Amino acid sequence: MAQNEMKKKVAEAALAYVKAGSIVGVGTGSTANMFIDALASMKNDILGAVASSEVTAERLAGHGIVVLDLNQALKQVKSLSVYIDGADEFDGGKNLVKGGGGALTREKIVAAASDQFVCIVDESKQVAFLGAFPLPIEVIPMARELVAGIVVGLGGVPKLREGFVTDNGNIIIDVHELKVTDARALEDELNSVPGVVTNGIFSHQGADVVLMGTADGVVTL
Ligand code: A5P
Repeated sequence: MAQNEMKKKVAEAALAYVKAGSIVGVGTGSTANMFIDALASMKNDILGAVASSEVTAERLAGHGIVVLDLNQALKQVKSLSVYIDGADEFDGGKNLVKGGGGALTREKIVAAASDQFVCIVDESKQVAFLGAFPLPIEVIPMARELVAGIVVGLGGVPKLREGFVTDNGNIIIDVHELKVTDARALEDELNSVPGVVTNGIFSHQGADVVLMGTADGVVTL
């Protein structure tokens, strides 16, 4: 099965986790886009969706799905029922690397506000250790060199994502050549550096369920 076909299948399978009458958190990226297209078939069954990026908000609205601001949503419900999003990598503990599209901070916020995180991926995203995909860090611009220096001290090779500004007005530093043996500890260590908004390790907000597209169909992990 081609990669796009696998993404479409997992996106459709994720609809089973969407509860009628709930508010759904929606991720960013090519797999999340396919989920948004599938979610359009349920737009009259849900109260609305909270988007993890401006581009996702636009796509949701384009399908006539009600888009709610997170603060607005959390006045209506205690938490979102489910957050559905892709990932750049996932390991055996369902820890993720995200942020290839640069939306990691809002993704982590919406995931944290949701009862369940259903991660939709094709099988190419499965790894033994996180870090083969360059780890994105969202950084306040004045802290760029400070954060880069600390990353070098941790054994990584920092590269500024040229010409990219996040939805929050910040920069992204992609860290190459990291082999992540303790995802939770590295997530915490990087997030403790002043100027780091957040990093793309999702261990605290790891997936509860991974729907993985394979040549033989969708596998639930
Ligand atoms: C967006 O910032 C990312 O976290 C995406 O979720 C991730 O890059 C996966 O994207 P694809 O579904 O396009 O592979």
